[in-house]
Amino acid sequence: MDDSKLYALAQEAALSAYAPYSKFRVGAALVCSDGTVFKGVNVENRSFGLTVCAERNAVAAALAAGRKDFAAIAVATPDAAYPVSPCGACRQVLSEFGGSDFRVIFGNAPDSLVRTDAERLFPHDALHELKEPGAAD
Ligand code: THU
Repeated sequence: MDDSKLYALAQEAALSAYAPYSKFRVGAALVCSDGTVFKGVNVENRSFGLTVCAERNAVAAALAAGRKDFAAIAVATPDAAYPVSPCGACRQVLSEFGGSDFRVIFGNAPDSLVRTDAERLFPHDALHELKEPGAAD
């Protein structure tokens, strides 16, 4: 799936964000190797620390459906004046499922897309050695 199409799905998801406190809607669209897409939105809470970002909710939706073969994720931040990159926590979580082969696209509008990948967003990764070679992952 091309970046623009994936971004359009993220933008569509952002309309469903639950962001009454920040008023900053985020939508994510995560595509698997066969083209299946899982969406996520930010879900805020009046106990602010419980907020979960759109990216991590998209990952959770995919995992719940038994998928983790991620090809790309697009993140839409329509309330921002510039493209907003995934937060630190989301970078770590995305890096769990891919590196330079896992594309990450973010933007506040269709003509402002920034293209990178999970490895570049989370360099000098540590702790992958905890995944034993050959172990179920
Ligand atoms: N947010 C995301 O959903 N993803 C990001 O990568 C950045 C931040 C959300 C969290 C919060 O609901 C709002 O955006 C403002 O930080």
